Amino acid sequence: MNSPLTPPRRSQAPRLEFCEVVREFPDPSGKMALRVIDKIDFAVEQGRFTAIVGPSGCGKSTLLQMAAGLLAPTTGTVRQNGRRIEGLNRSIGLVPQQAKLLPWKTLIENIELPLLLAHVDPGERESRGRDIIAAVGLEGFENHYPHQLSGGMQKRASIARTLIYRPELILMDEPFGALDAQTRMLMQDDLQRLWSREGATIVFVTHDLTEAILLADNVIVLSRRPASVKADLAIHLPRPRDVFEPFRTKGFTEAYDRLWTVFKSELRRVGPEKPERTP
Ligand SMILES: Nc1ncnc2c1ncn2[C@@H]1O[C@H](COP(=O)(O)OP(=O)(O)OP(=O)(O)O)[C@@H](O)[C@H]1O
Ligand SMILES: [Mg+2]
Repeated sequence: MNSPLTPPRRSQAPRLEFCEVVREFPDPSGKMALRVIDKIDFAVEQGRFTAIVGPSGCGKSTLLQMAAGLLAPTTGTVRQNGRRIEGLNRSIGLVPQQAKLLPWKTLIENIELPLLLAHVDPGERESRGRDIIAAVGLEGFENHYPHQLSGGMQKRASIARTLIYRPELILMDEPFGALDAQTRMLMQDDLQRLWSREGATIVFVTHDLTEAILLADNVIVLSRRPASVKADLAIHLPRPRDVFEPFRTKGFTEAYDRLWTVFKSELRRVGPEKPERTP
């Protein structure tokens, strides 16, 4: 039997590849370059659920923005299906940390917006809208405005708006970060079901190691800034996984311990600098 954490199998052509990617930003003085991403190499395989964890500020959102074509690497390449990503990448769906629904549009109008912009005809828009609303459990709220929805419902709507145009690659940037613990578990459960049903390729950034283990096929651990890949750990726990009582799942604790051992060495204690000794 496989151990819960062994190197992932490389059976299919990668969907998304980072090859020797470096990204720098000008530092606040504008004189020097601040290196955020340091020669990152990893591949996300087709149909897999990949989680990315790393200390705060290490460059996780920067990586997703490069995959979305919103930022270019300073050197190195990001490829999707073997083709270099240059300019806005329209074949991905990006779920940002904040839901960002348009307040003047109803739930259904918000969700169908990507199809409207793509000139999909009204009949198909309506049928895909109905399907996706049912899949994320928002039936009955179609004509509500965002301010009439809870935070969890807005998050569901944001995910539905991404799934409706069936992107071949879904990038999620700490999508459940702002939710309360119970809503978060429900959303994790829904997401793993949706992913099994749709068979999408998902890259999911999170701070939460338990969430990463419960959702992912493999977890990429980044070092602190400038980020490099510390480990790429495969999670072989059976699916569907019990997000409500993970510690009862056989193999979960072992997976958590291995991940935590790699992750904790990258945490920097926040606090005052040790004062210099004076003679
Ligand atoms: N446009 C920018 N200009 C200058 N510096 C930037 C820019 N975008 C990000 N940075 C810097 O790059 C570093 C990484 O930022 P990024 O948002 O990718 O981190 P992160 O890992 O997503 O952090 P968090 O876990 O807090 O969301 C930070 O030090 C940030 O200040
Ligand atoms: Mg971020």
